[in-house]
Amino acid sequence: MEAITKNFSIALLVLLISTFGTAEDCKRTAKCKCQTASGTVIDLNALSSGPNPRFTATDSKTKNIYYFSPCVPLVKQFCNITGDITMCQVVTGSQPIYWDAGDIGTDTFAGDPAANTLSVTFTGSKTVTTRHSKVNLICSGESRLDFLKEDPPVSGNYSFNLYTPVICPPSGSKSLSFGSILVIVFFVFFIVYWVGGFLFMKFVRRAEGLEVIPNYEFWKEIPLLIRDGIAFTARGCKGESTYEKI
Ligand SMILES: *[C@@H]1O[C@H](CO)[C@@H](O)[C@H](O)[C@H]1NC(C)=O
Ligand SMILES: *[C@@H]1O[C@H](CO)[C@@H](O)[C@H](O)[C@H]1NC(C)=O
Repeated sequence: MEAITKNFSIALLVLLISTFGTAEDCKRTAKCKCQTASGTVIDLNALSSGPNPRFTATDSKTKNIYYFSPCVPLVKQFCNITGDITMCQVVTGSQPIYWDAGDIGTDTFAGDPAANTLSVTFTGSKTVTTRHSKVNLICSGESRLDFLKEDPPVSGNYSFNLYTPVICPPSGSKSLSFGSILVIVFFVFFIVYWVGGFLFMKFVRRAEGLEVIPNYEFWKEIPLLIRDGIAFTARGCKGESTYEKI
C-alpha cells in the first residue's frame, strides 16, 4: 500500500509539472503558415486579396497610416518602395513618405491559437533602422486592423491587433485541446488523491494530526529536495565533493 501511494504521489508531481508546462506554440511550416502540436493549421494566405491592401490602420497620435497586405506584396500606389513589402508605414503629408515596416516572407509566429495568444511578427529590411511589426491575431467575426503602439517608444517596433475569422478554430470542432484534458485529469487525480488519502489515513490507519496527510513523509521531503536542487544548480551542477575539499 505504501509503495502504491508513493508512486501515486510521484505521478501527481509529474502531472502537475506537465499540466502547467503545456503551451502549444504554433510552428512555422511555410510562408504565412504555422501548425500546432495537436495539428491545428493557421494559414494567413486566406487573408490575402492583393493587389490592394487588405487592411488599413491609423495611428491616431501621429496620423501615420499602416497598410497591411498579408502574404501578397503591396503595390507601389500604396507603398512606393522597391521590394516585397507586407506592412508599410506611411507618413502622411502633401508628399507621403513610405517606410518598410515588414517584408513578405519574414513572418515568425509565437503563441498558441487555442489560447488566443497567437501573433505574427514581420521584419522590414529596406530602412536603415530596422522596423518590426507584431500583429496579434484575434479570432473574431470582424475583419479589422487596429494600430496599438510603438513599443518601446522610438524602437521602430509597432504592434497591432488583427481581428479575423480566418484564425478561428473550425466550427463543430469544439473538442478539448490536449492541455485542457490534462488540466481536467489533473484535478480529478488531485481530488481523489487528497480526499481518498485523507479518508484512508484517518479511518483505515486511524492516523492523528499531520499523519492524516497521505504520504506525509514524502511531501515533507519536497521542500528539502527543492532546496537541494536549487543549491545544486547554483553550484553549476557540480556535486558537493568540491565543497568538501575546501
Ligand atoms: C514613386 O516614387 C517615385 C520617385 O520617388 C515617383 O516618381 C513615382 O511617381 C512614385 N510612384 C507612385 C505610384 O507614387
Ligand atoms: C524589436 O523587436 C524585435 C523582434 O521582435 C526584437 O528582437 C527587438 O529586441 C525589439 N527591439 C526593442 C528595442 O525592443
